[in-house]
Amino acid sequence: MILLTGVTGKIGGETARQLVAKGASLRALVRDEAKAADLKAAGVELVVGDIADADTVRQAMDGVDKAFLLLPNGEHQEAWEKQFTDLAVAAGVKHLVKMSSMEAVADAETPIPQAHWASEEHIRASGLDWTIIKPNFFMQNLLGSAGSIKEKRKFFLPMGNGTTGMADARDIGAVCAEVLTGSGHVGKSYEITGPEVLTFFDAADRFSEVLGEKVEYVPLPMEQFREKMTGILQPWHLNAVCELFREIAEMGLDHTTSTFKELIGREPISLKQFVEDHVALYK
Ligand SMILES: NC(=O)c1ccc[n+]([C@@H]2O[C@H](COP(=O)([O-])OP(=O)(O)OC[C@H]3O[C@@H](n4cnc5c(N)ncnc54)[C@H](OP(=O)(O)O)[C@@H]3O)[C@@H](O)[C@H]2O)c1
Repeated sequence: MILLTGVTGKIGGETARQLVAKGASLRALVRDEAKAADLKAAGVELVVGDIADADTVRQAMDGVDKAFLLLPNGEHQEAWEKQFTDLAVAAGVKHLVKMSSMEAVADAETPIPQAHWASEEHIRASGLDWTIIKPNFFMQNLLGSAGSIKEKRKFFLPMGNGTTGMADARDIGAVCAEVLTGSGHVGKSYEITGPEVLTFFDAADRFSEVLGEKVEYVPLPMEQFREKMTGILQPWHLNAVCELFREIAEMGLDHTTSTFKELIGREPISLKQFVEDHVALYK
């Protein structure tokens, strides 16, 4: 039995759907049962509750041999992930797969990668078998700009001329599903990128190409972005996101990895393909 978290979100949802297609025996910890109705209909057992609640997690881990741990970024992510790890040890879970990020390194300087790294270290010291999934920027983040691209043919982000090797959540889900059902993944950290290093100006060109009209990326000054998001994100989260985006703007990523192709056996989805697949949202 595999326990999944985060199935009502982007990566967890993709992971769950791809595991269902593989016929895996699945249980999911969800906060809102209604949001996971399709998975329940597909045979996924649901345990309803919050990951912060140790009793709920214990109940969810009963009889589980592998667990997938994904939490959104927030003030409590590190503490809840460490608690989840300790509860997995106590419950006799054998293999823990954690969603981290490519920026999470030992000398990370901003709060989100630092929290991921601390959680990774806790898992590596736990005695559990582990695999860490470390993706770069999700293409699906650009769904948040669908409204402005549709209305103004412009999108506004504070990444300056920074680069990413953005990856599609469907591909990251495929990696998670492979790691949870395949062999040879214990003790590995997988850095996952898409097929190309792109600035957000390059990303705008991909949108222009698919939509057949000029789409413009407008780099926002960080303070303007912070103002725009105030009240939408919690203060800790907003500050952490601004710091992460500043890091992308200042340093970015200068390479892609071949990890996806080695694991899955095909090229990762390109941004052009992503835009084509979601064209109705942007047109
Ligand atoms: N975005 C990127 O570019 C990027 C790149 C690399 C790594 N990452 C990492 O990916 C992770 C986010 O993945 P995602 O984008 O797939 O997340 P997401 O779409 O925001 O989904 C978050 C999931 O976690 C669940 N959840 C939230 N709080 C919970 C709680 N207290 N108890 C139980 N479940 C809870 C949510 O359930 P509800 O539906 O109930 O809210 C949802 O299913 C983060 O750790 C981030 O650092 C992101």
